[in-house]
Amino acid sequence: MSLSIGIHDLSFATTEFVLPHTALAGHNGTEIGKYHVGIGQESMSVPAADEDIVTLGAAAAAPVVARHGSDLIRTVVFATESSIDQAKSAGVYVHSLLGLPSATRVVELKQACYGATAALQFAIGLVRRDPGQQVLVVASDVSRYDLDSPGEATQGAAAVAILVSADPALVRVEDPSGLFTADVMDFWRPNYRDTALVDGQESIAAYLQAVEGVWKDYTEQGGHALEDFAAFCYHQPFTKMAHKAHRHLLDYCGHDAGKEVVARAVAGTTAYNAVIGNSYTASMYLGLAALLDQADDLAGRPVGFLSYGSGSVAEFFAGTVVAGYREHLRTRAHREAIGRRRVVDYAAYRGLHERAFPTDGGDHCTPAQTTGPFRLAGISGHKRIYQAR
Ligand code: HMG
Repeated sequence: MSLSIGIHDLSFATTEFVLPHTALAGHNGTEIGKYHVGIGQESMSVPAADEDIVTLGAAAAAPVVARHGSDLIRTVVFATESSIDQAKSAGVYVHSLLGLPSATRVVELKQACYGATAALQFAIGLVRRDPGQQVLVVASDVSRYDLDSPGEATQGAAAVAILVSADPALVRVEDPSGLFTADVMDFWRPNYRDTALVDGQESIAAYLQAVEGVWKDYTEQGGHALEDFAAFCYHQPFTKMAHKAHRHLLDYCGHDAGKEVVARAVAGTTAYNAVIGNSYTASMYLGLAALLDQADDLAGRPVGFLSYGSGSVAEFFAGTVVAGYREHLRTRAHREAIGRRRVVDYAAYRGLHERAFPTDGGDHCTPAQTTGPFRLAGISGHKRIYQAR
């Protein structure tokens, strides 16, 4: 019998602040229905001045390490597309903040929002080679578009930490995967920019093309039939995209793509993303957290995962929910992470968005704003200084 490997624990963290879409609509005159219904977003997580992908990633991972210890963790894979350094992995800062053993390999992975799924699959390969070890995957991103651009309403920020092990307590990740890569310029961020560039309609079309591509490969590789799945967990740049993607998949397969059919398949995955916004690499795994935290008992049922990263790379795979998974969930902590955010008004959000990091290499303290467990205290001599509370 083949070894069962997958998601043993999952924890997420999000930011100190939140901007309701009503405030954004109040600023730019958009009819609120476009945000609430058209793209399916209620609010967006906004990082404090002293929060970044490292502080969010460490906050997501700390409860995982507290519960399981670090003795079996031999590898940390940090997936992000909002990297804070061109050379050093953000994972090394997280490794240090969490006090992980020096006998650990740490690396950062990038392919837009797809990076966390690459990290998960690489982790599974490592555990298959040595089932005694665990791999900590951290997916952390801050999504930033230009102010007053169409993408602005789809910003957000969060980190998910996933512990990958043999005999997982939550989700067994199955073979095969359906894979798809296409060289498209739908969304990208050149090294000299701190906001992403995007062709909105092109990006939606590229995502839907990838849905077809991964499903074609998945069926050719001998995967499940569509009707076997209890739910579908899509990458959610905005929650309406999960509905669009599933409708497209059903159409492609010649199935009934009625509104209720689509909603039944994806609605359980959208609660967290609707109030957090796009968290890039973390987004699909926030969808999984929402599904496990809210849905009826899914034990023994396969869930379909569709991970998309602009540029573009996509992967479809099945994960079967493990019996007894509910005892291992972090539902209360997840709801608290969302509920504890402090609401900012549009002016405060804009101030945070416009804040640029110094480039002169001198000593710079960041304002103390976050009440989270880790903070970016400042930058000194071009070095980022982090603090644990
Ligand atoms: P837009 O031009 O602001 O909006 O762009 P729109 O005119 O397309 O309207 C959006 C929807 O709201 C439409 O629904 C409207 O009909 C509806 P649809 O036709 O699409 O079903 N609408 C209303 N509904 C109810 N009441 C109203 C109302 N008014 C309009 N009053 C867009 C929207 C998402 C393109 C923009 O926000 C954007 O560019 N976002 C960033 C890019 C993005 O999220 N792309 C998604 C696919 S790519 C991806 O997922 C990868 C990514 O995560 C990055 C990565 O991989 O790293 C982005």
